[in-house]
Amino acid sequence: MTVTEEIKSRLDIVDVVSETVSLRRSGRNYAGFCPFHHNTRTPSFFVFPETQTWRCFGACAEGGDLFSFVMKKEGWEFKETLKNLAQRAGVTLEEAEPVDKETRKAHNKQAGLLQAAADYFHQLFLYAPQAEVARSYMARRSFSEETIEAFAVGFALDSWDACRSHFNMQGYTDQELLAAGLLTENPDKGTRYDRFRNRLMIPIRDVDGRIVGFGARTLEKDGLPKYLNSPQTDLFDKSHLLFGLDMAKRTIREARQAVIVEGYMDVMQAWQGGFRNVVAQMGTALTEPQLHLLKRYTKRFILALDADAAGAKATLRSLQVARQTLDRETEVKFDAHGLVQHEGRLQADIRVMTLPEGKDPDNIVQESPAEWERLVEQAKPVVAYVISVATADLDLNDAKAKTEVAQQVLPLIKDIQDPIERDHYWQQLARALRIDERALRQIRLPEKPLPERRSVPETAVAKPKSAAHAGWATVPKKAQGAVGPLATDMRQSDFLHQCVRFPQVLLKVNQKLADGGQPNVVDEDFLLAEDRAIMRQMYQLISRSPVVTIDELWDSLEQTLQNRLKFLLSLPQSPETELERISDTLVLSVLDWRLAKVRQLLGEVKHLLHEAQRENDTEALAVYQQQLRELPLAVLQLNKARGAMSATSRRRAEDALNGRY
Ligand code: UTP
Ligand code: MN
Repeated sequence: MTVTEEIKSRLDIVDVVSETVSLRRSGRNYAGFCPFHHNTRTPSFFVFPETQTWRCFGACAEGGDLFSFVMKKEGWEFKETLKNLAQRAGVTLEEAEPVDKETRKAHNKQAGLLQAAADYFHQLFLYAPQAEVARSYMARRSFSEETIEAFAVGFALDSWDACRSHFNMQGYTDQELLAAGLLTENPDKGTRYDRFRNRLMIPIRDVDGRIVGFGARTLEKDGLPKYLNSPQTDLFDKSHLLFGLDMAKRTIREARQAVIVEGYMDVMQAWQGGFRNVVAQMGTALTEPQLHLLKRYTKRFILALDADAAGAKATLRSLQVARQTLDRETEVKFDAHGLVQHEGRLQADIRVMTLPEGKDPDNIVQESPAEWERLVEQAKPVVAYVISVATADLDLNDAKAKTEVAQQVLPLIKDIQDPIERDHYWQQLARALRIDERALRQIRLPEKPLPERRSVPETAVAKPKSAAHAGWATVPKKAQGAVGPLATDMRQSDFLHQCVRFPQVLLKVNQKLADGGQPNVVDEDFLLAEDRAIMRQMYQLISRSPVVTIDELWDSLEQTLQNRLKFLLSLPQSPETELERISDTLVLSVLDWRLAKVRQLLGEVKHLLHEAQRENDTEALAVYQQQLRELPLAVLQLNKARGAMSATSRRRAEDALNGRY
């Protein structure tokens, strides 16, 4: 994760915008008056928690992310904004070591390798005769073709070097395979072999659908480990991932709650059963970064605990464990204190649902969907749940036992931030213990003081088990891998890269855009805050002198931007050096990413319109209807500009781009 990504994952754009703009809910989003242009009648300014973006549908027609909002609102440069937001997010900028060119390049290549590996395993699963064992295993567990396809389930051959030779032949080195976690090295003998052998391969994706690792299930009876995950890598950090989130996020927002289960199979089975708001924490305890991710979509989390973790003993132990120091060795799957503190800090609503003895969500969803719904519905708030478990087998005639329970539960109640809620649980505990509330308030807590719990956001509920056990997942984006238009972020990186190498080309691109009736390339064209800043800097330098060198640009940038520049310079270079041709390619890129943006916007607006209709939000409705009239015109104009480029230069440009990636 880059620093800006880290910051964005910790701050909620809705919170930040709310500080200066008064927002009200509008369906799944928030609306208010745009702070960037004069308007008092119709709220045309929207914030989208799901994508963590904002947009004005009115006069200024602008939009962007957290960074661009703050930059615009405060009139700050990138550097100042970075400093400010880093501080608010509790991200130390020094920590963010400059990632050198080689590292960035390697990360990039690794991401490509992981995607290629997922395709390779999936093809094997579907077609290899040796994969019969995997296919019949999935059939036995009643997984449908659709589910297998959606999650891109794969199979690794029962071989020590099949994967290695396959990718060596494709030009990947052993070093790269090791770094991606596909190859394992025996440190003593120095031998190398495929990490995943004869296993069912489950690709793990991040929230944006990028493959970051694998969870690999044994296909042998009692094979160990049951799941072998990718090792911890720069891309794969289990404590920052939730398996299935990329596929579940939409439904989570619609259902207004997320169910958190333990395993890959549970998520896949729930998905198949039509419960698509389910994600898995993959064997680690829930961490705050995971909750931060989820919080973009909902503030209500339901923790599905197996009977073991939910049992009375485990629950009481969880109250004890949280009182010990933070460096605990044993894994806590349910940390009541941690959860209550998360609730306070995140303003979330965390509930606990208990599964019947010996059952996984996997079984329940298959056996009885209605039962699953009932269990979800019956989930209890953490504290209510703890009280009910702690007082379940209590002998109400045993005064000592009652005191003990009170001493265990009270610190938890004291942790609750909201005074009304806190009071509610005082009463509830008193009632459960059948004692007077005043008496309860006089109970002295045990001598041993609670350790100071850090209230900074990085307090994790519990640590991940161990590095060796690291592995995590998200799910395949369906359309991925298919040949399609290049992603906007790739186009933009390439665009900036070429502009940095050939600054004169920028003016040529603008000239060609103008010929097609299109505005110049501006910083707002770019998705990333870093790219916007670099673009602005380019224009500044060009305005002073038409000849800009990379060194000049480099020296004028602040460190985070230098890192980005390094990355850009590490991208594959076009063999093309003729400005005319380069600019053709770039113009095409600009038009295509603008088209993609307008199309995406159009889709968004349609969706928002439905929502506004459902909610009878007439103000929003008017804004969206206006947009639905205007956006198709923009598509038309962009297509016209594209058409204006001669067919040959367009084809050349398309070939050039595709050849590079
Ligand atoms: P479970 O053992 O409950 O597995 O571990 P499961 O999901 O029910 O698997 P099936 O149904 O037997 O196939 C829950 C989760 O813990 C992690 C995995 O993420 C798994 O889905 N885990 C478990 C590991 O990472 N490694 C292991 O060896 C075991
Ligand atoms: Mn299971």
